[in-house]
Amino acid sequence: MNSPTSQLLDGFLVQCQQRVNQSLHRQLEGDFTSVILRDAMAHACLDGGKRIRPVLVYGSVQAVGGDLDWADNAACAVELMHSYSLVHDDLPAMDDDDLRRGKPSLHKAFDEATAILAGDALQSLAFQLLAEPVAAINSDTQLKMVQILAAGAGFAGMAGGQSLDCEASGQQLDLTSLETLHRSKTGALIKASVQLGALCCPQLQDTEMIALQDYAEIIGLAFQVQDDILDVTGDTETLGKPQGSDKELDKATYVSLLGLEAARSKAAELSDVALESLSSFPASADPLRELAAYIVNRIN
Ligand code: IPE
Ligand code: IPE
Ligand code: MG
Ligand code: MG
Ligand code: MG
Repeated sequence: MNSPTSQLLDGFLVQCQQRVNQSLHRQLEGDFTSVILRDAMAHACLDGGKRIRPVLVYGSVQAVGGDLDWADNAACAVELMHSYSLVHDDLPAMDDDDLRRGKPSLHKAFDEATAILAGDALQSLAFQLLAEPVAAINSDTQLKMVQILAAGAGFAGMAGGQSLDCEASGQQLDLTSLETLHRSKTGALIKASVQLGALCCPQLQDTEMIALQDYAEIIGLAFQVQDDILDVTGDTETLGKPQGSDKELDKATYVSLLGLEAARSKAAELSDVALESLSSFPASADPLRELAAYIVNRIN
């Protein structure tokens, strides 16, 4: 079963997924000091995953009138970063989940040390790739892009949010604290994806960046609200990861705090607000518009 998509979004998703898969394969070719580490990195980032963050990179460069080719490295970099975050998220010391993207989690397919190192190496590779020269992008902009990815993944972003998430297990958070947690653990990398995509286009206007950032912050939160919902309503096979993991670990989620119906209303409301942020964009932003709905209606 697939998540509901329109013809336009379907075509765009497939195109972007193909592009990023090609880049990911290319990154894992050639000689590696450790074949085991290479195989582990491949297990983590090839063959699986919806590739939503790369799709957001491409959707954003297109929204501001840029060419998808300019965004290939940025799209691949965010997926490498995201894949690393999933590997570490599944470790016994964190969520202790044994299934990811329909396959054994990396520490199950290999071992914990290899999973930790593969995560480290995927993260380094993301920065290496983002720092590679791209003809359309000047070096000042590239430096800014490196800063954005670092901030999105680091203590003020994903890693900081993951720390709050670990701390909150077994705790009842208030809504403001839960929103802060979600905005950082998941929203920050989603926002970085949109910002990076926009920055790949040299003609980007400040007003466009501001609107895209608003959009990204809202869908970033919506994405994790839907992830919380799917932990309750999804099934393991469709999700490709264990349903019920949050409940088992007594995680602070939108469903545990608000209940299922209120969490669903929150997700739908966020999706509508995200659309308003894009009101000044032409049809080139249609994939981003449709992604706002897809993110809260997806079933995996
Ligand atoms: C799962 O992300 C982890 C979260 C941040 C919620 P995705 O739902 O994008 O996972 P993949 O990449 O499709 O496997
Ligand atoms: C993970 O949140 C966020 C990350 C930064 C990886 P979850 O722990 O809810 O993600 P899933 O449900 O395991 O994919
Ligand atoms: Mg987690
Ligand atoms: Mg998890
Ligand atoms: Mg989850």
